[in-house]
Amino acid sequence: MASNHEGQGRTQPHPMIAGYYANPAGRLTFARDLFNRTAQHYDPINRWFSLGTGAWYRRWCLKLAGLRSGHRVVDVAVGTGLLAREALAITGDRRAVVGVDVSEAMLAIARTNLGIPLVQGAAEALPLADSVADFVTMGYALRHVADLEAAFREARRVLRPSGTLLLLEISAPRRKLTRILASAYIGGLVPVLSLMTTGDPRARALMDYHWETIVNSVPPDVIMQAMRDSGFREVGCRTEIDLFRCYIGRKADA
Ligand SMILES: C[S@@+](CC[C@H](N)C(=O)[O-])C[C@H]1O[C@@H](n2cnc3c(N)ncnc32)[C@H](O)[C@@H]1O
Repeated sequence: MASNHEGQGRTQPHPMIAGYYANPAGRLTFARDLFNRTAQHYDPINRWFSLGTGAWYRRWCLKLAGLRSGHRVVDVAVGTGLLAREALAITGDRRAVVGVDVSEAMLAIARTNLGIPLVQGAAEALPLADSVADFVTMGYALRHVADLEAAFREARRVLRPSGTLLLLEISAPRRKLTRILASAYIGGLVPVLSLMTTGDPRARALMDYHWETIVNSVPPDVIMQAMRDSGFREVGCRTEIDLFRCYIGRKADA
């Protein structure tokens, strides 16, 4: 069950969800612990959960946003490296894609998977210098940050002028039929199958939480407004099957 307000003067990706953390300050620690406990299950679940389309879709969005060879990328909330891997396939330079994440267990898997530079840190306070990137990307992690504007301001700071912010996210479907189907699959079948395939109740808890944050998430308009308010222009959102959203914005001049 979601409460109405979590913080003052900043945009939360979703209201606080009762039972997970006691106050907004606990969100970062909760997310870090959750992904530390379930990191080993992330790639296997992702493979069947996305019905094999995850890599293709991530790469398609990166190309749509204009990523090309030679670009320098900061992938925030890199996780095990699923989005960074596709960025690397396009840029072709292992040193040009840097991953940031709060979870040391997710970073450890990314290190084995990709061998790119990785640094532990939060989206709201990136441990990176100003203007180091042509692209800042963030895949399926917006629902975990404490403050959208803080995360977007940090993305803007590390981007060079006119650099691109690309966000991939799953949002609550708007149409009734999609809502019913998504609820049955992502909210029902996926958590049960996660438990059955891993034998680990924590994998089920991860996927239950996943759906709860999706249905409670703020609408795309709020996310795009937060991007504009944080210094991005040409902000747009492309939606596939009423569920998968790809947000793109360019860093506005100071
Ligand atoms: C669902 S995974 C996404 C991984 C990857 N981007 C992908 O496309 O598969 C979410 C990741 O966000 C990380 N995370 C959660 N809150 C974060 C924060 N405030 N700052 C940075 N990383 C965060 C988690 O540790 C986890 O690795």
